[in-house]
Amino acid sequence: MMGFCRWSCLELHALFPTVVATDHLDLDPLELAALLQTVLQCRAEASGNPDPGCAWTGDLNGVWQLHQHPACRLITEQVIQRVWGYLDATGFDLTRLELHLQRCWPVLSDWGQVVGRHHHPNAHLSAVLYLSGDGTGADGCLCLHAPSQCNELVPGLAVGHDAPIAPHHPCNQSRWTLAPKPGLLVLFPSRLDHSVEENGEAEALRVSISFDFVLTAPASGEPPEYLAPHPGHWQRCPRPEN
Ligand SMILES: [Fe+2]
Repeated sequence: MMGFCRWSCLELHALFPTVVATDHLDLDPLELAALLQTVLQCRAEASGNPDPGCAWTGDLNGVWQLHQHPACRLITEQVIQRVWGYLDATGFDLTRLELHLQRCWPVLSDWGQVVGRHHHPNAHLSAVLYLSGDGTGADGCLCLHAPSQCNELVPGLAVGHDAPIAPHHPCNQSRWTLAPKPGLLVLFPSRLDHSVEENGEAEALRVSISFDFVLTAPASGEPPEYLAPHPGHWQRCPRPEN
């Protein structure tokens, strides 16, 4: 139930919500400093992105196993714990799942840089942990984009010039934003399009760590119809020889 509108006879039911979760991880100053030093070192040792307007993303520069770094072990454990919590809270039977951390990479955004709109087709659930920011969003908010505007009645009614629906009405939001600050963690389905606004702080480097998770069936037992069997049961198919 969503609430009442000014037409008091109408009870509004907001159906089929997408769940995005946030939490705050307590990073002590020494741990935070070690993490920042680690990701800065990763960037220094790798090549830069070809587009100067785009943030430096480790996954495009060979740094996609950051969770293996000793400095990241503790936060990785904490993030994994929250992912299990998300799955539990959204109705998954945890005993019938295996969770795999597939990829983990830093994203560093200098002044004026952005991350364009995209999603992660390689994963099921994604997480971002922020190591910087002051909670104002001046260094660039994360934007999650609505797959569709369910209450525009038919696709396209709410877009275009002079659209007749208030763009920020809670029933017709096209995006949701989150302002970074150190320790802030967000979990969201990997299918959701997301982007990062421009870092508008000349002196501030925006730093985050992204995680991609995949669900499979456990190694033992019969896998459900549409959940991938455990990778231990997969057979590698050799490429044909020329
Ligand atoms: Fe992303």
